[in-house]
Amino acid sequence: MITRRKALKALGISSLGASTGLGIPSLAIAQSDTDSVNPLKIPQLAQGELTGNVRQFQLILQQGSSTFLTDTTTATFGINGSYLGPTLHFHRNESVSLHIENQLGEPTTLHWHGFHLPTSEDGGPHQVIANGDTWNPRFTVVQFAGTFWYHSHMLITAGEQVYKGLAGMIIVEDDTQQVELPSTYGVDDIPLIVQDRRFNADGSFRYMSDYEDMVVGMRGNTILVNGTWQPYFVPSTRLVRFRLLNAANARTFIFAFSDGRAFQQIASDGGLLERPVTLTNVELAPAERAEIVVDFSDGRDVNLVSVGKPSYFPEFPGAMSAMMRSMNTQDFDLLSIRLQGQLQDNGTLPESLAPIYRLPESAATNTRQFLLSMGTGQRSGDDRGPGTGLRNGNGGGHGGGNFSINGRKMALDFINERIKLNTTEIWELSNNSPMSHPFHVHNGQFQILDRNRRPPPANEMGWKDTVKVGPGELVRIIMRFTDFSSEEIPYMYHCHVLEHEDRGMMGQFLIVE
Ligand code: C2O
Ligand code: CU
Ligand code: CU
Repeated sequence: MITRRKALKALGISSLGASTGLGIPSLAIAQSDTDSVNPLKIPQLAQGELTGNVRQFQLILQQGSSTFLTDTTTATFGINGSYLGPTLHFHRNESVSLHIENQLGEPTTLHWHGFHLPTSEDGGPHQVIANGDTWNPRFTVVQFAGTFWYHSHMLITAGEQVYKGLAGMIIVEDDTQQVELPSTYGVDDIPLIVQDRRFNADGSFRYMSDYEDMVVGMRGNTILVNGTWQPYFVPSTRLVRFRLLNAANARTFIFAFSDGRAFQQIASDGGLLERPVTLTNVELAPAERAEIVVDFSDGRDVNLVSVGKPSYFPEFPGAMSAMMRSMNTQDFDLLSIRLQGQLQDNGTLPESLAPIYRLPESAATNTRQFLLSMGTGQRSGDDRGPGTGLRNGNGGGHGGGNFSINGRKMALDFINERIKLNTTEIWELSNNSPMSHPFHVHNGQFQILDRNRRPPPANEMGWKDTVKVGPGELVRIIMRFTDFSSEEIPYMYHCHVLEHEDRGMMGQFLIVE
């Protein structure tokens, strides 16, 4: 089983602690030597029912009781089941119609994360489904093939509802796509919905139990993958495609293998990359996705892990410092992979995947700035320069509860931005808080122009709908605003740490003619 030292060494980052001068944080692994005893659950694949050229889906949002741990049960939310929902299988250029019934006992919404669709079908905070009501969104799937997801987007309670289980994966397939990839669902094409949770002694979920949960977002010490605790998976093919979805409320995962083996990333949020990118780890903030292909031909058992990062945050007295220092420093075993018997040969990975037209900067006719902030802090004057997380006096002291974008909190009746239909814009995202925020824009996919004026790494050169913005970082994205203009119903942009979103780190935009 992996140790932290081994994992760091395998990743070639063993000297990180030394180079930052902060010392390596705890070498202990959170759940040491867990014996993975539960076969990985694979969410049911919902293909819908094709009537004419519309694919119909029935979704019931319901309360449930789930058994994750031994000997206890947990009150949960689920979609057509007790926890999470089926994987919805859509086809590009087909229309879908979803009949959604809310039996949760409270209002909710259901949002199609990453989709390019009319604002009225988006499932954002304006499309509330009251308890006992139904909602019937209908849209044409214009997405490229890829991995998306759906989840509650209820104003203020999205975090708690997703935590309880209101989320699922969406796979879009392009029937005309030529490229050959492992694509047998549940066999060599495996969804991995990764979440961290915290439990009370009686087995119930513990949500928002202290100040830290509110400030840095709700993180847990126990990992669930597709709602499975301590899961294992037995490959039957040489190559396995994993669809990694970070469906955590607040935690960033750095996915890697315990033996440091390389893998290929083939897709980012919005679909295939131009060509496979060889990596030994991939970092995903909440809501980000990556499809990776891993080779198990060597027949060796291995673990999919998340590797903690040594804290960059300087140590000084105060609650904020302690919280920031502990962020994402933990290691986790996510999935134990057991090799048993003969592996079927399921081909080789193609060298090129999909052409990606990089939107030229010159296409943009407007630039907007978005400043992500969390609280005024009590230690104003602490400005230790970029990369320290201490800019403009934000982030030293208490505060931290005052989440905003451009100094404003989300208000349902306030339109923050109006964007002209059929234009391309550059959005400059900056962050003067001490932690990173995954910035998500509704209405579809964008591209990352640069991070601190440097081109993004190869695996961030494809289509994205969510992008990490680190403390003190400037990330520039470029996006086209075609279709779906509306004078009434806006799209959202927000931090995808759900506790930040729920507390106001969200804004609204209209696309207008
Ligand atoms: Cu994944 Cu606005 O949400
Ligand atoms: Cu979204
Ligand atoms: Cu945030």
